[in-house]
Amino acid sequence: MASAIKTIEWADDRLVILDQTLLPNSEEYVALATVDEVIAAIQRLAVRGAPALGVAGAYGVVIALDQGARENWSETRLLDEINRIRVARPTAVNLAWGVGQVEGFMAQGRAEVLRAAQQLAQDDYLANREMARLGADWLLAKLGDRPLTLLTHCNTGSLATTGWGTALGVIRELHERGKIKEVFADETRPLLQGARLTAWELAHEGIPFRLLPDGAAAMAITTGLIDAALIGADRVVANGDAANKIGSLGVALACTAAQIPFLVVAPESTVDRSVATGSDIHIEMRKDDEVTQMAGVPTAPVGTRTYNPAFDVTPHKYISVLVTEKRVYDYQAGQLP
Ligand code: MRU
Repeated sequence: MASAIKTIEWADDRLVILDQTLLPNSEEYVALATVDEVIAAIQRLAVRGAPALGVAGAYGVVIALDQGARENWSETRLLDEINRIRVARPTAVNLAWGVGQVEGFMAQGRAEVLRAAQQLAQDDYLANREMARLGADWLLAKLGDRPLTLLTHCNTGSLATTGWGTALGVIRELHERGKIKEVFADETRPLLQGARLTAWELAHEGIPFRLLPDGAAAMAITTGLIDAALIGADRVVANGDAANKIGSLGVALACTAAQIPFLVVAPESTVDRSVATGSDIHIEMRKDDEVTQMAGVPTAPVGTRTYNPAFDVTPHKYISVLVTEKRVYDYQAGQLP
C-alpha cells in the first residue's frame, strides 16, 4: 500500500508542503514561491525531517531560479540566495546535499534543475521502501519471526520523507507483514514530533501504538517491554556516530543496558563521510521559548534560561546496525559506513 500522506510536492510552479506545525489539529497545505518563504518553512519546522529537507532544498533551488528571473537577480545574488537555503538548518546533511544535487544542473537550465529535483524526490521514496524491507528482514532474523514491540523516537515517517518513512517505514513494513504487536512512540520534547506527528501517522495507518513521555522510555526498555528501538538520523558520519533528534542518545543507552537492538535507519544521502566523528557535527541550538512555553502558554518563570539542542549524537558503540537502502551495516561486526 503506497503512502496516502502527501508531505511535499511541486505543483503550479510552487513548492507545496503540508504544514507540520499545525498537525494533528489541522491539515493545511502551504504553497511556497520565494526563497524567504522556503527558509521560513524550514526553520519553523513546517517542513522537517532530514529526507524531506533534502527534497525541499532541491526544489528551493528552482524557486530561487524563478524568483531570480522575476526580480532580475545578478548571478552573485542568485548563488547567495541558494546558499541561504543550504544553511537554513545545519545538522541534517540532506538539506545541503539536496541543494548540491540539483545546482550542478543550473548550467543546463531551469527545466533540468526541476527534473533533477523531481528525480531526487522519487528516489527518496524508493530508498525508503528498500530500507523498510532490509530493516524488517534484519529484525525478524535477529529477534525471531514473531510480532514485535518496537520503540521509536521523533517522527521518521511519511511526514519526514517523500512518503513511507525510514525507521517508521520499517515499522510500516512489519505491520504489513503482520509482525507488529505494538509501537511505543516517544512524545519527543520539546516540539512533540512523536505526539503530534508519529502518533498521527500510526493512527492513520491503523498500527497499534502507545504514546509515552520521553522520560518513560528507559523504564519501558529496561523492564523488558520493548524488543528493539529504531530511529532515523540527520547525519551519520564516517566512524558511524549518528546525530538525531534530542533524546535519541538516552534511548540508545537504555537499549545498550538492556542488551536489545538499537537501529538507525537512514538513506545513504544522510551518510556524511566527510565528517570524521560525531563531535565534529554542528548541532543546531533552538530558542528558549520552545522549552519555556507550551503552545504559547508559559510553563516556566519569565527569564528562565534553557539548554535546547535540537539533536544529540549517539556514538557508534551504542548502535547495533545502520540500515540504508544499500545494505545493513552491522556496527557490532565492525562494518562502519
Ligand atoms: O527537528 P526535526 O523534526 O527536523 O528532527 C527530525 C529528526 O530528528 C528525524 O529523526 C530525522 O530527521 C530523520 S527523519 C527520517
